[in-house]
Amino acid sequence: MPDSRETKRCDAFVTGWPVKHSRSPLIHNHWLKRYALSGSYTAESVAVEEFPAFISALKSGGRYRGGNVTIPHKETAFQLADRPDEIAKELGAANTLWMADGLLHATNTDSFGFAANLDERHPGWAKINRAVILGAGGASRAVIQAVRDQGVAEIHVVNRTRGRAEDLADRFGPKVHAHALGALGEVMKEAGLFVNTTSLGMNGGETLELDFSTLAERALITDIVYVPLKTPFLIQAERQGRQTVDGLGMLLHQAVPGFEKWFGIRPSVDEELRSLVIEEM
Ligand code: ATR
Repeated sequence: MPDSRETKRCDAFVTGWPVKHSRSPLIHNHWLKRYALSGSYTAESVAVEEFPAFISALKSGGRYRGGNVTIPHKETAFQLADRPDEIAKELGAANTLWMADGLLHATNTDSFGFAANLDERHPGWAKINRAVILGAGGASRAVIQAVRDQGVAEIHVVNRTRGRAEDLADRFGPKVHAHALGALGEVMKEAGLFVNTTSLGMNGGETLELDFSTLAERALITDIVYVPLKTPFLIQAERQGRQTVDGLGMLLHQAVPGFEKWFGIRPSVDEELRSLVIEEM
């Protein structure tokens, strides 16, 4: 890991296909400017068939010290890394890569980002017995990991395709229970956290009408979707007098560990950065 006093120029990337919608360049370039660092953070559009060659160039000491990986390369990045950490191994996917001692290291910062967002907004959020997670895709895995690692006793994963929720319950162990959508009302009773990890409500798309009244008294409702910032789930929850946290903070916080690995400074997530990203949405 670079030392914070190191002045050597460092370059990092975000790669995906497509990558043009990524907000990562906005976030990292804001930090580069704020901390007056001479490095760069660049979007690299890399097709699936080109990705192994991109990783080979990184390993052989090309331009970059490391970078972020987004859809569809997260699983391949994990497989091609020399040193994936335990978090990446559990998720089978990596979103952050860095070279150290000639080896490619990999982690996944999504679960960190999820927990850090809630820690910032509602410290103590995880002192609950039951969490409900809607959805069973890649984002759901990171949320399950985060909630489980905070010691929440019961995690209920509810998904349209029940089999995918069952796969996650098998993967994450006995605290995680799988359900079909029809069980949602039942498992929400007395839950202290509700998380939407599906694409429902994204960009004005379809949603579900939910009754949040049976959740525990001080329950939190949060959404992985952050476009729009106030998703249909958050609007419904607020109308029902519930506390909500939007998903933008997860995006901002998941970027922190990567920036620190590449550039040697742990950046702060503040209102200025949040406003900047909102302006560009
Ligand atoms: P990601 O990796 O971003 O989580 P994904 O793997 O495509 O994306 O998962 C999307 C999630 O949204 C899944 O849980 C999906 O449910 P299925 O497993 O049944 O496909 C869920 N989802 C997407 N559209 C949905 C809809 N209209 N109603 C309910 N769930 C939906």
